[in-house]
Amino acid sequence: MRFQRCSDSSFVLTTGSPDETFAAGRITGGHLCPGMLLLLKGSLGMGKTRFVQGIGDALGLHGVKSPTFIIMREYNGKTPFLHADLYRIENKNEADSLGIEEYLDDGFAAAVEWAERWETPPSEKRIDIEFSGSGDERLLVFTMNGCKIREEFTALADDLKSIALTEE
Ligand SMILES: Nc1ncnc2c1ncn2[C@@H]1O[C@H](COP(=O)(O)OP(=O)(O)O)[C@@H](O)[C@H]1O
Ligand SMILES: [Mg+2]
Repeated sequence: MRFQRCSDSSFVLTTGSPDETFAAGRITGGHLCPGMLLLLKGSLGMGKTRFVQGIGDALGLHGVKSPTFIIMREYNGKTPFLHADLYRIENKNEADSLGIEEYLDDGFAAAVEWAERWETPPSEKRIDIEFSGSGDERLLVFTMNGCKIREEFTALADDLKSIALTEE
């Protein structure tokens, strides 16, 4: 795993296997806070679900699956957690009508796959993660978009950096 800081509000993580992406998700799951929104972007097979399974592991959840066919699934772990996948929404308005913001207001943390299909996500406590890559390598570009999670974002970056270093 490799870690590269780009700025105060952005860094890039490079994983070399599905397990490393899962581990990155597990670390991220340890930094969730109520109202935190993770927007996972990138095409099919880029590891978004694998990453969310790692988050689930950190929350003590088992059997986190892709919610593709039902769009959203909620879990009552340590921090209540919502997993959504917008792959099958019919139009851009549908993302707004799912009620994800209400979950955030109720103290859930949420991870949303295919988030590029949501035109107007809230941004108070938001981290965007862009997935790309080929073969077994995946680039995860983390960008903090909300002003209220600076501490969590910095702690997450530090943690990911330290596992990237120990694994080399
Ligand atoms: N570094 C990696 N990180 C995550 N997945 C990887 C990686 N290398 C290969 N893969 C494979 O890519 C696929 C990712 O699937 P998935 O997590 O369902 O993607 P998505 O949810 O983005 O469509 C899996 O088949 C996994 O084995
Ligand atoms: Mg998926």
